[in-house]
Amino acid sequence: MHTPVLLTQVMEALEIKKDGLYIDATFGEGGYTEAILNKGGKVLGIDLDEEQLKSSRVNELTNLKLVQGNFGDIEKIAKENNFFPVDGVVFDLGLSMRQISQSGRGFSFKKVFEPLDMRMSLNSEMTAGYLLNHLSESELFDVFAKNSEEINSQKIAREVIIKRQFKELETVGDLTSCIDKAIGEQDNNAYKRIFQALRIQVNEEFENLKNGLIGATKIIKDDGKIAVVTFHSLEDRIVKNFTKTGGIKLLNKKPIMNRRGRTFEKVAKLRLIVKDIL
Ligand SMILES: C[S@@+](CC[C@H](N)C(=O)[O-])C[C@H]1O[C@@H](n2cnc3c(N)ncnc32)[C@H](O)[C@@H]1O
Repeated sequence: MHTPVLLTQVMEALEIKKDGLYIDATFGEGGYTEAILNKGGKVLGIDLDEEQLKSSRVNELTNLKLVQGNFGDIEKIAKENNFFPVDGVVFDLGLSMRQISQSGRGFSFKKVFEPLDMRMSLNSEMTAGYLLNHLSESELFDVFAKNSEEINSQKIAREVIIKRQFKELETVGDLTSCIDKAIGEQDNNAYKRIFQALRIQVNEEFENLKNGLIGATKIIKDDGKIAVVTFHSLEDRIVKNFTKTGGIKLLNKKPIMNRRGRTFEKVAKLRLIVKDIL
């Protein structure tokens, strides 16, 4: 079972009530779900990736319901399952370790022979390979620059266009070699940023997050809480901006952080959103 990085902080923040209703919007390997169940809460777990739900080892049957779906549809999913209003919602964004190491979908720049797939759900059609082989240079630049703020985005987009004139990009190694050529050296941080940018695009992660937050505020009780854990500064910005839209507020002005390493994407930030009731 995976232990999420900010588990203790999220559990403290949600103040789980016995028989309270909680949505784990990013079920993954079930770390938050298990902790909520252990405190007597009832959980609706959602994950886009059907494989995550199939491999679940959480064996509670009465207080847990698992649904394959997109948290962008959280309001609809909660209502279809008659699971609302809820006491809390947790979003733990990104990928789980199992997806990175075992899915075979090209999420990691280290898995050079894997295909450039990067779909969280195999039901969706868009893949990273499709984007790399079909977008124009300026569209690729936009994907890299907007989703990752990688400073070499222009050069990398150019290299992709040059490479694909000879042969379509198929594997992780095909993409890392374009990045090497564009930058002139091997740079793990650039790989990480570009891979993350593509994954965000393939899975429409920013749009889903916005829709998920809107939906979650519609189904929480007046004293309910939404906990959002991000690992990406642009996602954190979406969460912060969302709390300025009215009717809701941040419980903590500064995010609760856990810095696992020095590289940019290892900083986990927890933000807590509550209803702003006068
Ligand atoms: C960081 S992992 C969550 C780990 C989880 N907290 C645990 O304890 O194992 C993120 C999970 O969210 C899922 N996910 C990402 N985007 C999603 C979306 N839009 N809707 C539903 N699930 C999503 C991923 O498939 C992945 O399983």
